[in-house]
Amino acid sequence: MKMMVTGGAGFIGSNFIFYEQEKHPEYQIICLDKLTYAGNLATLDPVMHEENFKFIKADIADREAVYEIFETEHPDIVVNFAAESHVDRSIEDPGIFLTTNVMGTQVLLDACRRYGVLRYHQVSTDEVYGDLPLDRPDLFFTEQTPLHTSSPYSASKASADLLCNAYHRTYGLPITISRCSNNYGPYQFPEKLIPLMIANALADKPLPVYGEGLNVRDWLYVEDHCAAIDLIIHNGQTGQVYNIGGHNEMRNIDIVKIILEQLGKPESLITHVKDRKGHDMRYAIDPSFIHEELGWLPQTKFRDGIKKTIQWYLENRSWWGNIVNGEYQTYYERMYGNR
Ligand code: NAD
Ligand code: TYD
Repeated sequence: MKMMVTGGAGFIGSNFIFYEQEKHPEYQIICLDKLTYAGNLATLDPVMHEENFKFIKADIADREAVYEIFETEHPDIVVNFAAESHVDRSIEDPGIFLTTNVMGTQVLLDACRRYGVLRYHQVSTDEVYGDLPLDRPDLFFTEQTPLHTSSPYSASKASADLLCNAYHRTYGLPITISRCSNNYGPYQFPEKLIPLMIANALADKPLPVYGEGLNVRDWLYVEDHCAAIDLIIHNGQTGQVYNIGGHNEMRNIDIVKIILEQLGKPESLITHVKDRKGHDMRYAIDPSFIHEELGWLPQTKFRDGIKKTIQWYLENRSWWGNIVNGEYQTYYERMYGNR
């Protein structure tokens, strides 16, 4: 079996490659990645010289390049993680989100039609459902919840999902879609909440909490997400959407306090800054369908996952130190300078 993983030099894609190498050592894995600011080849060091692994630098929106790769490699399974993934960047500049997340998905779908695959899996997000009110803890996103996006990022991800469904209905392409809640764990780029707060706390820098910090996210340890995708690819029904989440709802402010406590840093580092535009209040997944259909359940409790994650950032300072000391500083200044 030959599996193409797009966006495999990013956070979840790289964790998925490591997961698949353990689970299916007989598979050939090809990672296709453009290496944007979020892609880091060093992350793939542990597998780079494995015989059953190949890295190809390419843009999923570059039709000619993608067709050429399919022509040579003929993957059986394609798992698309490649995306612009940060909501704040999408608010600043939506264009690249449409190019990569929508047009790039279309190029991959066309390549799959043209060359034939056993499965195309689209890694989507719970953000396509919009948000839930804080005062209705009884409400959850199910696979039937209507798409109702808030940010240019979520709008681009929802558009890609609709294209996947259209290619299934119109051309019979064997697609599946997963919509996961917020992930955390090793190799997450430090622009996202958890690694950003760990990095700032370690440097005794202010921890920028948007608004009051009361927004709720449903946190899932990245390995649990990888396990769910693996199950969907191998046992899921084509044309089906699977929600992935683990009833791990947390307020941002509480996460920040846990990180400070674990690192032995004072809460005085918390700084409330201007809120994100259109900030979604609460995400919460109902994972009963994937549980009943595929037997998936998350294995990692938040209190254990966050400890492992903090430990990883403590032990891998050079991985994220290289990032925060480079171009990221300009981003940070632009994003947080006047907040
Ligand atoms: P990431 O930003 O860490 O990584 C994205 C990767 O895609 C990078 O390696 C980047 O170089 C690559 N990439 C970007 N544009 C590309 C292009 N045009 N062609 C080829 N490669 C390109 O993202 P992540 O957090 O690992 O997210 C992976 C996927 O999971 C995304 O599709 C995202 O929407 C989805 N998702 C993420 C979360 C989360 O909490 N991080 C939750 C649910 C779903
Ligand atoms: P983020 O990690 O960007 O994920 P998403 O927006 O996709 O859920 O943000 C998680 C939550 O943390 C979100 O409510 C915004 C908030 N947040 C902050 O308060 N401060 C920050 O510096 C960042 C990056 C996020």
